[in-house]
Amino acid sequence: MTRVVVLLSGRGSNFQAIVEAQLPIDIVAVISNRPQATGLAYARERGLKTVALDHTAHPDRVAFDALLADAIEAHQPDLVVLAGYMRILSPAFIARFEGRLLNIHPSLLPMFPGLKTHERALEEGVKIHGCTVHFVTAQLDHGPIVIQAAVPVHADDTPASLSARVLAQEHRIYPQAIRWFAEGRLLNQQGRVNVRGDSTSQAVLSSGA
Ligand code: GRF
Repeated sequence: MTRVVVLLSGRGSNFQAIVEAQLPIDIVAVISNRPQATGLAYARERGLKTVALDHTAHPDRVAFDALLADAIEAHQPDLVVLAGYMRILSPAFIARFEGRLLNIHPSLLPMFPGLKTHERALEEGVKIHGCTVHFVTAQLDHGPIVIQAAVPVHADDTPASLSARVLAQEHRIYPQAIRWFAEGRLLNQQGRVNVRGDSTSQAVLSSGA
């Protein structure tokens, strides 16, 4: 079984979708930089091992990331899943886990890296928006793309309505990406990710309400 460590900071709806998808994985720990994260409470309810590492007690980012990396390594993961982990990771951390570190981002990368993606999509007047699962590299929100889902943007959308439409797709594509990883199907060659022997598309087009 693929050993997975999940990192999260808040609500944890993606984490919940991953749990509910009943993937062929063993979630060996759920770690949060915010002790009060709802996602951590959900993990506890499910009887999963949880670790709270409060970043406010460790002002030095590099030192905190080293502690975090040690806490992760203690569980010997094959894969580390960022599920709403809301802190920028230091280059040393990323180097340690590169190739086994996945993130979900609420935009069609490379458009709208960073924060407030739904607000920015509405400001730009784009007609299609979405989400991306990608391997994490040193450049923020730029790693090799595993799968994307696109949703329409409606004229009367607000950041909240658009975010909800995108989130429903996040909950589809993140479990799919993790399943591919667990099945050893992801081929990451020179920054391009293909899926071996699977007819399921890496592009999900939703007519989304
Ligand atoms: C999601 O929008 C995800 O794309 C982004 O952070 C948010 C986390 O939401 N990285 P949740 O905690 O999974 O509900």
